[in-house]
Amino acid sequence: MQRYRLGSKIVEVLRGDITACEADIIVNAANNWLKHYGGVALAIVKKGGRIIQEESDKIGYVPTGNAVATTAGKLKARYVVHAVGPRANEQKASEKLKRAILSALKLSEKLEAKSVAMPAISTGTFGFPKRDAAQIFAKTIADFLRNAKHVREIKMVLYDSETYSIFVEEFEKHFASISQQEH
Ligand code: APR
Repeated sequence: MQRYRLGSKIVEVLRGDITACEADIIVNAANNWLKHYGGVALAIVKKGGRIIQEESDKIGYVPTGNAVATTAGKLKARYVVHAVGPRANEQKASEKLKRAILSALKLSEKLEAKSVAMPAISTGTFGFPKRDAAQIFAKTIADFLRNAKHVREIKMVLYDSETYSIFVEEFEKHFASISQQEH
């Protein structure tokens, strides 16, 4: 696990299953219709319960780059925030990924969350290159935290060892110079 301090705020990069995380908000990597059929989305519904899919169905369509909240069911979180990332081959995919991350974080702020657990949106089924994604996540998270009032801690949760290693490298590059690192 890697941990960075930005003033009073904390960023952690850790390997694990996001459904086991304790945080006010667990972010989901969703599709436009919030049909949670695979990847981290399916894991969230399996552990949190059908209520998450049912509330998602009531919301319906969410444009790429946006985020919406539902209950977290049985998960140890107050809400699940469903962020819709781009597919790798879409136009302006990088910009859309940045918007999806920022939408999830801004909604978390609005919901007065202190802590947010975030998966590597778009890097699974949607095929976004992991290293490019890691750079976008690091910059977007750092920029957001600077002005956040409620959110004090962001956990970047990676599932497999390859993605974890890539995110560790890119977060180290981005955060080492701007934070007081704890080992
Ligand atoms: N905890 C944390 N991360 C996880 C977990 C988990 N339990 N399960 C998978 N991941 C990781 C993947 O390894 C990948 O790096 O989440 C990242 C995102 O992968 P996907 O879940 O496939 O999400 P995405 O690429 O954004 O594609 C979204 O996939 O399953 C569908 O309903 C989902 O249609 C949507 C699409």
